[in-house]
Amino acid sequence: HRTVALLVAAGTGSRAGGDIPKQFRVVGGKAVIAHAVDALAAHEDIDAIHLVIGAGQEAQVRALLGGRVVAGMTQGADSRRGSVRAGLEAIAAAGGVDRVLIHDAARPFLPGAVVNRLLAALDDAQGAIPVLPVADTLVRGMGGAMGDGVARDDLFRVQTPQVFRFDTILAAHRGWDESREATDDAQIMKGWGHDVTLVAGDEGLEKLTYKQDFARAEARLASART
Ligand code: C5P
Repeated sequence: HRTVALLVAAGTGSRAGGDIPKQFRVVGGKAVIAHAVDALAAHEDIDAIHLVIGAGQEAQVRALLGGRVVAGMTQGADSRRGSVRAGLEAIAAAGGVDRVLIHDAARPFLPGAVVNRLLAALDDAQGAIPVLPVADTLVRGMGGAMGDGVARDDLFRVQTPQVFRFDTILAAHRGWDESREATDDAQIMKGWGHDVTLVAGDEGLEKLTYKQDFARAEARLASART
């Protein structure tokens, strides 16, 4: 197998506040994107890492990565879906890849065990994604009033990396109706008619989205050092 990680980092991260996109902020003395690259590079089954970044960000990203090696950098798009598509097309142009892990640069901590579970699942499936159960009670909100409750036993929170057979996810992206948005690639794969296997995710893999997520990530790194 030749397995490439596609790391998407072209978002503006507006929900996290601050002037710089969340994936470029520093936690524990290292940029979030550098944490993500290190985690992917540390896995023996990942052969190369391809980045998707915003327009004009190459010098900034190279500086944040220090000497870390990536196979390529592609300019992203206005939507996450468009950014992933651009990266997949760049990887396709280079050729020779049969599995891809699509991962958010805003998730700095990736346990190798999650990658093991995902790649093992791909032996019998076209796609596999890491998920976690929902611990809180869920309700619908009706203009400030509580609506009906929602059964949570068959609901899951979806994380990345999401792994796919390369040719299949490329075809699914190419066939996707561009006017529809999709917050992840598994929806696109499912929409293309392929079942996607669920494997256990990891709490540590949470995406940094809001300001308080960064404080939690700092604390996590500090406690890991002691
Ligand atoms: O905004 P969200 O948290 O969904 O972003 C998830 C990941 O997708 C982030 O790493 C972000 O940089 C990336 N992204 C992208 N291009 C966009 C939007 C998001 O590469 N237009």
